[in-house]
Amino acid sequence: MGCRRKADFRASCDPPFMKEIAPSPPPIVRNDARAVQALFQQNVVPSYGRFDIVLSHGAGSYLYDITGKRYLDLGSGIAVSSLGHAHPAITEALVEQSRKLIHTSNFYYHESQGRLAQAIVSLVGPGKCFFGNSGVEANEGLFKLARKFGHDDGRFEILTTINSFHGRTLAGIAATGQEKIKKGFEPIMQGFRHVPYNDLESMRAAISPATVAIMVEGIQGEGGVTPATPEYLLGLRQLCDEKNLLLFMDGVQCGYFRSGRFQSFQRILQGLPAGEKFLPDGISMAKSLGGGFPIGAFWVRAPYADLLSAGTHGTTYGGSPLGCAVALKVLEVVRQEKLEDNARRVGDLLKLRLQELAKKYPGIIRNARGLGFMLGMELSPDIPTLPVESNKTQAVRFANLLHSAGLLMIPAGTQVLRLLPPLNLRQSEAEEGLKILEAVVARLAR
Ligand SMILES: Cc1ncc(COP(=O)(O)O)c(C=O)c1O
Repeated sequence: MGCRRKADFRASCDPPFMKEIAPSPPPIVRNDARAVQALFQQNVVPSYGRFDIVLSHGAGSYLYDITGKRYLDLGSGIAVSSLGHAHPAITEALVEQSRKLIHTSNFYYHESQGRLAQAIVSLVGPGKCFFGNSGVEANEGLFKLARKFGHDDGRFEILTTINSFHGRTLAGIAATGQEKIKKGFEPIMQGFRHVPYNDLESMRAAISPATVAIMVEGIQGEGGVTPATPEYLLGLRQLCDEKNLLLFMDGVQCGYFRSGRFQSFQRILQGLPAGEKFLPDGISMAKSLGGGFPIGAFWVRAPYADLLSAGTHGTTYGGSPLGCAVALKVLEVVRQEKLEDNARRVGDLLKLRLQELAKKYPGIIRNARGLGFMLGMELSPDIPTLPVESNKTQAVRFANLLHSAGLLMIPAGTQVLRLLPPLNLRQSEAEEGLKILEAVVARLAR
């Protein structure tokens, strides 16, 4: 029986209801790339350097531009689309929850925020969660937590690392250990200093009477994909205990199963006796948590979990029923499909193959590093055959070649290309990506 009236469309339509309201993308009818770009040029603040690609839709690990060209997406929107594109479970969660309740404000309780917090606590350890909308907002929450912690004894300073990235708000750029991010926005908010990464002695030497916390990424992302060493993390914990400092891990990019464990420090310290007991005092999260739906969070360890009392922190959209329902669904799929193991197994294989490529083509690839599905491929300096494009870094010029060949990878700094694929990337897709990459590299090596 067909849908005669709108009212009975839910009960009797074929194909099922979900397909009716979330149809597959329409076929490509024309190439409007230039028109779309003109709209941006005229109306959108030009704060991003964009590639010359106008996307239309995606399916799984693939993206399609409006000319119909297909790209294998090994960037997943900078580590965000954790289940790939157009995953039916996400569509279903969005649709189902939006039919019940999209938003409430945090004046009221609702079930999915509590359940998501409980799930995160069970993945990390005793503590509590706060929900926001982005990575930088999660970090801001931790910065405020640190200020509250140190307030009565006049401590406020947070130490971070050189080449770190913690976001683009005023506190985010102050926390970020890269001058280019701060330039033009002076005076920079006070209370942050940077020291070399993976260097415990520099961190110890930098502590002042005003220091209240340390924040590090488990794997530096924007800074070029550099994992922390186990000794560094264990040493930081000891240092913080000794000096009564809070230890924060920015897990926005390297967290959420990407490393092969929920948080990268769990992977880095796995198998070490002291590692199983290691816990930071706060962890920021975002990106993959919502699989593309904007949601961020921080977890804070139990002794400090009630420091931000009623009225001290908040955000209108944080932990909405819709965001939390989607995040819970993403987590359910990650668990059901054992995507943490997939990230580790396929990611480690990818790394090995990238390292082999680096050996085979040392003039093009210097090395490959990272953990699981957070990998960085460093280019050799000054590749003479790379097409010249004025003012573009080697990483961007290399990415352009990959794009022409149908592969998306993400530049980090001037020399590194990042692989941050969906957590459900198949091995066959990883192999397809390697094949495309090798063809590009081989051409440059000729
Ligand atoms: C480690 C890290 N922290 C914080 C952020 C900021 O996150 P968002 O852009 O969601 O504010 C990013 C973004 O790339 C990041 O990589």
